[in-house]
Amino acid sequence: MSIISKDIQKAIQLLTNEELVAIPTETVYGLAGNIFSEKAIKSIFSTKKRPFFNPLIVHIPSVDSLDGIVTHVPEKAKLLAAAFWPGSMTLVLKKNKNIPDIITAGKDTVAVRVPNHPVTLELLRQLPFPLAAPSANPFGSISPTKPTHVERYFKNDIQQVLDGGACTNGIESTIIGFIDDEPIIYRLGALALEDIEAVVGTINIKNKEEISPDAPGMLARHYAPATRTFLVDDIASEVKKHEGKKIGVLPFKNSLNDVSLTEIILSEKGSMHEAASKLYDSLHELDSKKLDVIIAERFPEFGLGKSINDRLQRATFSL
Ligand code: TXA
Ligand code: MG
Repeated sequence: MSIISKDIQKAIQLLTNEELVAIPTETVYGLAGNIFSEKAIKSIFSTKKRPFFNPLIVHIPSVDSLDGIVTHVPEKAKLLAAAFWPGSMTLVLKKNKNIPDIITAGKDTVAVRVPNHPVTLELLRQLPFPLAAPSANPFGSISPTKPTHVERYFKNDIQQVLDGGACTNGIESTIIGFIDDEPIIYRLGALALEDIEAVVGTINIKNKEEISPDAPGMLARHYAPATRTFLVDDIASEVKKHEGKKIGVLPFKNSLNDVSLTEIILSEKGSMHEAASKLYDSLHELDSKKLDVIIAERFPEFGLGKSINDRLQRATFSL
């Protein structure tokens, strides 16, 4: 028998009372509410200032809970769930009619995932309902990977940030939908594309806003710092173009050895996993330093590098 911590007990109480709780996952922190509480779900949208056309991900404790939520699980979805849950993958499947329209933005599909974090898995096991949880950041801003990030955004709006430490993967889940039972990627994320393809074969990516009405969350400007951000192959030559400015740089592994720059190296040992886990924290950090520009280095286009480039690219659009 597991002992339920005081923090988890408090979260159970708040969520049962239709309040919101920020929850840790291995990807990013989520802003969670009972999927069957209209009050809680409306308050997720208003707290985040998120438009209602952007549907939410439903978090469940294990693959067994899929039954009550979806009507059809394609064979390849079963293979993916067996390979990656609990973990950083969200499946978009045909929804059961008991799933409220406000969760799915009126679509006939619902996004579901089993997160891989011991605190949140325990919480989900104790609750008699699943949790809707978008990333716990205001719409369009950098996602939170530490409790302090969530507190900075929502200190006055929510009663509890359930502390699960820093997120180990650090970028959002990979989202996979199905067309005629064949998988398609709607959002690159914390799983490397190659690992997914090892399970289901070659898979198409459809994550650009203009061709992807299926994933309305994939807006070009997303995950964006307030500071003007550039994504380049060669940081040093971009730095020259901004002479006289306060510059933050975000190299993958090699220092620029220039003390006039504010520098955060994402992974000195060249690990893409470490770089992904530090990406948002580093952007939060640079963004807080009142710099004129942030210059990030483009990653090699494979493995998690592809997902990191996707997020950095979206961070470069300014309003
Ligand atoms: O890692 C994650 O997925 C985190 C943690 C908290 O689990 N959650 C997260 O949620 O990133 P959010 O709301 O920031 O992103 C959810 C994405 C949106 O882009 C949304 O458009 C897409 O999921 N989505 C949700 N339901 C969908 C559906 N039925 N069809 C297609 N896309 C859907
Ligand atoms: Mg988000």
